[in-house]
Amino acid sequence: MQVIRTIAELRDALAIHRQRGFVPTMGNLHDGHLQLVRQARELVGPAGAVVASIFVNRLQFAPHEDFDTYPRTLERDCQLLEGAGCDIVFAPSEKELYPEPQGYKVSPPTELADILEGHFRPGFFTGVCTVVHKLFNIVQPTLAVFGKKDYQQLMVLRRMTAQMALPIEIHGGETRRSEQGLALSSRNGYLSEAEKTEALRLSRTLKELIARWHAGERDLDGMEAQALQSLRDAGWAPDYLTLRRQHDLGAAVEGQPLVALGAAKLGSTRLIDNLET
Ligand code: PAF
Repeated sequence: MQVIRTIAELRDALAIHRQRGFVPTMGNLHDGHLQLVRQARELVGPAGAVVASIFVNRLQFAPHEDFDTYPRTLERDCQLLEGAGCDIVFAPSEKELYPEPQGYKVSPPTELADILEGHFRPGFFTGVCTVVHKLFNIVQPTLAVFGKKDYQQLMVLRRMTAQMALPIEIHGGETRRSEQGLALSSRNGYLSEAEKTEALRLSRTLKELIARWHAGERDLDGMEAQALQSLRDAGWAPDYLTLRRQHDLGAAVEGQPLVALGAAKLGSTRLIDNLET
C-alpha cells in the first residue's frame, strides 16, 4: 500500500488504473470505515485500485467544534487500511488541498442541506460537498462508498454527484455497531465507559419511535417531543429525533420507507444515529 501526500504523485500513481474505488475519511478509523474499504474492494474487483483519503476538513467544522482536537492517528489508520485491502492512502496536508483560501464552494440546496444536521450545523454540508467534490476531481474515482451512519450526508453527496453529472457511482455502506448496538463513530473515543453504556439510549429511542409508528400512532409531533424529553430526562442535550421519508427526508407518510434519525449531545460528545424501517 502506498501513502501519498501530494495531488501530483497521486495522479501519477493512479494513471494505470481505470477502475478506482474511493473511500473519503477524516481518519481515526474504526471498523465501520474498514467495512467501506472492503466494500470498495469488492466493487472494483482485484484489478481495480482502492483509494482512501484521510483529511480533517476544516471547512466542515464550526469555530466552536472539535477541529483542533479531532484525533490525528495516521500511522495506526494506515496499518488498518492495509489490512482492509486498500491500495493507496491519500493524506494531503492542509496546504496541499487548500493552498489558498477556498473561495469557490459547492453549496447544496437548502431543502436538503438546511434541515436536521444542516440546521444544527450551519455550513456543514457546504464544507462536506466542497471537499468531496475537490477530492473527486483529484482521485477521479469510478465509484465512491460513504457510510449510511451519516445518512443525510450520503443523500446530499448522492444528489451532488447526480446534479453535477459526475461519472461516479455512489454506494452506501451499512452502519457497523458494537455488540451492544452502539453505532461505531470516530467520536465514540471521546466517551467514558459509563457514557458508552448510556449512549445506547439514542438508538433505543429511535427504535421506540419506529415501534410506535408501526403500532399505528400518527401524532408525529407529539411522539418526537416525547422522545426528545426522554433524552433530556436522562441528561442528554438532543438536537433532533425524528421520523422521515427515506427518499428525501421529508415528513413521514404512510406506506413509504421511513428512517428515524437523531442527534444529541451526551456530556460534551455529539452523537448521531439512524435506523431505516
Ligand atoms: O464523513 C466524513 O468523514 C467526512 O464528512 C468526509 C465525507 C470524509 C468529508 O470530509
